[in-house]
Amino acid sequence: MANVIEVNNVYKAFGKGESMTKVLSGASLSVEKGEFVSLMGASGSGKSTLLYLIGGLDRYFNGTISVCGYDIGKMKEKALSAMRLDKIGFIFQFYNLVQNLNVEDNILLPSSVKGKSKAEMKAKLDEILKITGLTEKRKAKPSELSGGQQQRVAIARAVIGEPEIILADEPTGNLDSNAGAEIMSLFSEINKQKGITILQVTHSHKCAAYGDRIIELVNGKTAAQDETAENVQEAVPAN
Ligand SMILES: Nc1ncnc2c1ncn2[C@@H]1O[C@H](COP(=O)(O)OP(=O)(O)O)[C@@H](O)[C@H]1O
Ligand SMILES: [Mg+2]
Repeated sequence: MANVIEVNNVYKAFGKGESMTKVLSGASLSVEKGEFVSLMGASGSGKSTLLYLIGGLDRYFNGTISVCGYDIGKMKEKALSAMRLDKIGFIFQFYNLVQNLNVEDNILLPSSVKGKSKAEMKAKLDEILKITGLTEKRKAKPSELSGGQQQRVAIARAVIGEPEIILADEPTGNLDSNAGAEIMSLFSEINKQKGITILQVTHSHKCAAYGDRIIELVNGKTAAQDETAENVQEAVPAN
């Protein structure tokens, strides 16, 4: 099957002249449909920048990025946001939940954007609450949940729209290692059972080992790590 993400020779800088920061200098990577890939690299190496470019959240770059066959650098804003809504689920480090909405309504936010009623979404909502272990918490507000539970709400919100791809930026960065492991198990399950392609940014080799492979960002370029995900898994105690 074809690559759902293809990044070719991408250059990205912020600012101009003397204050210019070159972040990506010829980054290339590809991710096949159904893969679970971890993107690693030092702080400030451009991981978030690259993820946001792939997700079409920032359209200013040189090079080519194609997502689900769409050459996103050539798309108009409206088509790009429609594609994003349809194909991509985002997960961030700080969950980005709406504090005065309960779990269900947070999860349903993107589907209501697509114009679907709660009744239409009921079966899917029940399923996703079950997968994420949130059935008992469906009426709770974010402030009544632990960090791990809040991140599960964010995952449910990303998954309910049945995206092709999940882009996650340090999804366990704010969690302790037990909650982080739960989130990674959930990612594995969603990846295997729903066939959703996952590209996650992580600092943690332990989290990266849940994926199929690691891509490292060094000096604005991407490199496959020498260590395969299997080797990393062996090198890290199971807990
Ligand atoms: N909107 C922005 N404006 C200016 N500089 C930015 C912006 N976003 C990121 N940068 C800079 O780009 C570099 C890479 O940032 P980032 O992609 O967030 O790195 P990472 O996620 O790997 O820690 C950093 O030097 C950061 O300061
Ligand atoms: Mg970052």
